[in-house]
Amino acid sequence: MIKLENVAFKYREEEAYALDHISINFEKGKWTSIIGHNGSGKSSLVKVLMGITESYEGNIYIDGKQLNNDNMKDLRSRFAIVFQNPDNQFVGATVEDDVAFGLENMGIEREEMIERTDYALKLVDMLDFKKHEPHRLSGGQKQRIAIAGALAMKPEVLILDEATSMLDPKGRQEVLSILCDLHERLETTIIYITHDLTEIYRSDKVVVMNQGKAVAEGSIDEIYRDKELLKESNLKVPYTMELSEALLDGTYLTHEMLVDRL
Ligand SMILES: Nc1ncnc2c1ncn2[C@@H]1O[C@H](COP(=O)(O)OP(=O)(O)O)[C@@H](O)[C@H]1O
Ligand SMILES: [Mg+2]
Repeated sequence: MIKLENVAFKYREEEAYALDHISINFEKGKWTSIIGHNGSGKSSLVKVLMGITESYEGNIYIDGKQLNNDNMKDLRSRFAIVFQNPDNQFVGATVEDDVAFGLENMGIEREEMIERTDYALKLVDMLDFKKHEPHRLSGGQKQRIAIAGALAMKPEVLILDEATSMLDPKGRQEVLSILCDLHERLETTIIYITHDLTEIYRSDKVVVMNQGKAVAEGSIDEIYRDKELLKESNLKVPYTMELSEALLDGTYLTHEMLVDRL
């Protein structure tokens, strides 16, 4: 679905590459996680993908079409993104206004706007909150609204850049389980960016970033098995993993999975 070929980017000429010649394939309908410590280049990758910065080297293909000046607006309209801080994303006075905002910008007619807003709110299980004020919601609920805003656009690719990192464990779990459900039901292609290895359990593929490079890619098991790689990349092995490896037959990534097994 999305192919990066030798993509490189720097913020300033005299600086090192923030993205250092990266090649990644994001497959349609799959969940790809990108993990990496702070400053490894994850958000820069998002900026290049979303066109927040135009000055990159290398090639990007979407469904086989090379991204260029003529088609980029069209091709990128198939992506939607949810950022880290839910509080910075609200523009509407009510939840439904907020979710409808992106649609209004797209020039979608009122009737369809209402339909899509309800559809998206239902998907994240927040329809009952549509008349509420966004800033009064819990962190997890806010992020679910942000996801609804993205889903109302009916994106083929949903990108989440550390979208749970401001949430408490309950909010985190809430958002992740909504995403797992959406991924299953709608077959949305997901690009999930995180520095927290406990969040990648649903991934079909994991890409590890370090110092602007994509240093490894593989299945969850392949990545977890490579302790040296995780250490070099400054990634913390989750406690649940260490415990399950010491005591049990396999790897149990989340607290819930481990408790179930035990
Ligand atoms: N707006 C910016 N201007 C200059 N340098 C930046 C900017 N944003 C990020 N960087 C630098 O680019 C590198 C990658 O950062 P970033 O992509 O934000 O990493 P991550 O999202 O993995 O934490 C870091 O060295 C960071 O300091
Ligand atoms: Mg970032």
